[in-house]
Amino acid sequence: MGKLKGNFLFFLSLVFLFLESSIAVDTITPAHSINDSQTIVSAGHKFELGFFNTGDSNYRYLGIWYKNIPVRTVVWVANREFPLVNNSGLLKLGDDGTLSIVNESRSIIWSSNSSLTAKNPVAELLDTGNLVVKDAGDDNDERYIWQSFDYPSDTLLPGMKLGWNKKTGLNRHLTSWKSSDDPSPGEYTYSVDPRGLPQLVLRKGSDEQFRSGPWYGTQFSGVPVLKVNPVFTPIFVSNADEVYYSYNITANIPSRFVLSQSGSVQHLSWNDRHSNWYLIFTVQEDRCDNYDLCGSYGICNINRTPNCDCLKGFEPKSSNDWDVLDWSGGCVRKDPHICHEGEGFVKFTGLKLPDASQFRVNVSMTIGDCEAECLKNCSCVAYAKLDIRGTGNGCVTWYEDLIDIRQVPQYGQDLYIRMAASALEKKADTSNNRKNVTIATTISVASAMIILVLIGWFVSWKQKMIRTQQPENQLTISKVETEEDLELPLFEFATIQAATNNFSPANKIGEGGYGPVFKV
Ligand SMILES: *[C@@H]1O[C@H](CO)[C@@H](O)[C@H](O)[C@H]1NC(C)=O
Ligand SMILES: *[C@@H]1O[C@H](CO)[C@@H](O)[C@H](O)[C@H]1NC(C)=O
Ligand SMILES: *[C@@H]1O[C@H](CO)[C@@H](O)[C@H](O)[C@H]1NC(C)=O
Ligand SMILES: *[C@@H]1O[C@H](CO)[C@@H](O)[C@H](O)[C@H]1NC(C)=O
Ligand SMILES: *[C@@H]1O[C@H](CO)[C@@H](O)[C@H](O)[C@H]1NC(C)=O
Ligand SMILES: *[C@@H]1O[C@H](CO)[C@@H](O)[C@H](O)[C@H]1NC(C)=O
Ligand SMILES: *[C@@H]1O[C@H](CO)[C@@H](O)[C@H](O)[C@H]1NC(C)=O
Repeated sequence: MGKLKGNFLFFLSLVFLFLESSIAVDTITPAHSINDSQTIVSAGHKFELGFFNTGDSNYRYLGIWYKNIPVRTVVWVANREFPLVNNSGLLKLGDDGTLSIVNESRSIIWSSNSSLTAKNPVAELLDTGNLVVKDAGDDNDERYIWQSFDYPSDTLLPGMKLGWNKKTGLNRHLTSWKSSDDPSPGEYTYSVDPRGLPQLVLRKGSDEQFRSGPWYGTQFSGVPVLKVNPVFTPIFVSNADEVYYSYNITANIPSRFVLSQSGSVQHLSWNDRHSNWYLIFTVQEDRCDNYDLCGSYGICNINRTPNCDCLKGFEPKSSNDWDVLDWSGGCVRKDPHICHEGEGFVKFTGLKLPDASQFRVNVSMTIGDCEAECLKNCSCVAYAKLDIRGTGNGCVTWYEDLIDIRQVPQYGQDLYIRMAASALEKKADTSNNRKNVTIATTISVASAMIILVLIGWFVSWKQKMIRTQQPENQLTISKVETEEDLELPLFEFATIQAATNNFSPANKIGEGGYGPVFKV
């Protein structure tokens, strides 16, 4: 009896297997529409297409989701703005290759709207999650009549392109859902800004919220997380025909970028063991990624409080605003005399390259030509190398106030900013070449004395610093990072130690009220 039951169950499961495989087609043809309760499944059972609703809503949408993931995760929605009011909708393929969703009275609610047609069209759901319309038997992806990958919703799957087909003007971008129950377009978009120095841009309405900075060979200037790793290969293509961002995944695990309703761009991976989506990173890392936080010529440093500072050689446009942490006014040059005798460029390192609407790019210019090009034109405020890979050339020059600059530890780029002669002299002083460091010619004797007095005081108190009487940034003697940060009167402690022969008595030239004074 038990054995009979077992056999019967085995037979039943065979029947179900048979039924499932016969139902699980991956194509739609003009003769074979699908209704609200039918779905198609990609050949490798990765993705499924059909009608769904969200939350408590009765609205029905046509979408694509992962077949084997228990949490329904919709990666594409066709009729985002035009839901069906009940389950009487149909997805049809026309004889010309147009996909359309019709309601009960056969009115078209949504259609695929392609200018191309096919003789013998078939719509197929691929294992990549792409729904394509093609001529039956023609698998060349360049001849697809239409594909859902060209019309992303809020999700970028591996192999999808985010960006422009310059020939057709097609702009593939992500748009957030309005809410978790409403797939209609929300406030946020994530797209490629294709102008000269293409970059990814997140907008809320028309307001820029975040930008990736330009791509420079291996990654985006401002998004260190988007770099190649053993399972993730970012791809950026910019040529005469197209400019787009894409990515490949080597591990065979579901992976997606999604633009959330609150405007964060998240990279998620499916975790089978815990049966949930695992957040690998968000593209916007921290506060310094807020677009233009520090105003023009301001620089954001996440390791500093407050985060905004002016670039060396610049000062707050309004120190009152700056004092109350309103940085929007930005910074202005301390010495505005650029385009004068003796001017030049100061190198800043470790940066996300700035944004500005006026810039020029030349992909073949060397860095030397780049400097010459910038120097020639008085409205050129800065230049940088475009591609940091060994042999890479390329030059970008900016012709407008520089905004949205941040420190990017480890992965930042070099930026050369035009400076008046006076600012350059100061910079030369900061060289580590002791012979060149002659205080009399470089900075006012007074400020040098003060700093040395402070150092002497510092030593005599055995490195115990009393933080009360000095402005905060003058205390960070050991934290000074790069040469451009060394706008006098700040020296790295080690430099001073060396310059004074480890504070040797021979270099001592006197003693002030604060402690000993040394000659360097
Ligand atoms: C869809 O079609 C199938 C097969 O023809 C049928 O059994 C099912 O009731 C239909 N569903 C709806 C919602 O019309
Ligand atoms: C679907 O909605 C339409 C419009 O509200 C209605 O006329 C129709 O009867 C509904 N069909 C079903 C099957 O509920
Ligand atoms: C079908 O859609 C059309 C156009 O949106 C609408 O006018 C019509 O009432 C809808 N019919 C049903 C039965 O929902
Ligand atoms: C369909 O395509 C045409 C031209 O390609 C365009 O003008 C029109 O706005 C598109 N319609 C929809 C609904 O996308
Ligand atoms: C990404 O994957 C596609 C499809 O598998 C392959 O053709 C392409 O060469 C890959 N690109 C990179 C940069 O790995
Ligand atoms: C780029 O620079 C090269 C070398 O200086 C020059 O020959 C070329 O004309 C420039 N191209 C553009 C578009 O300015
Ligand atoms: C300098 O650059 C600006 C901005 O690109 C341009 O309008 C101007 O004509 C240039 N001037 C010269 C002398 O090349």
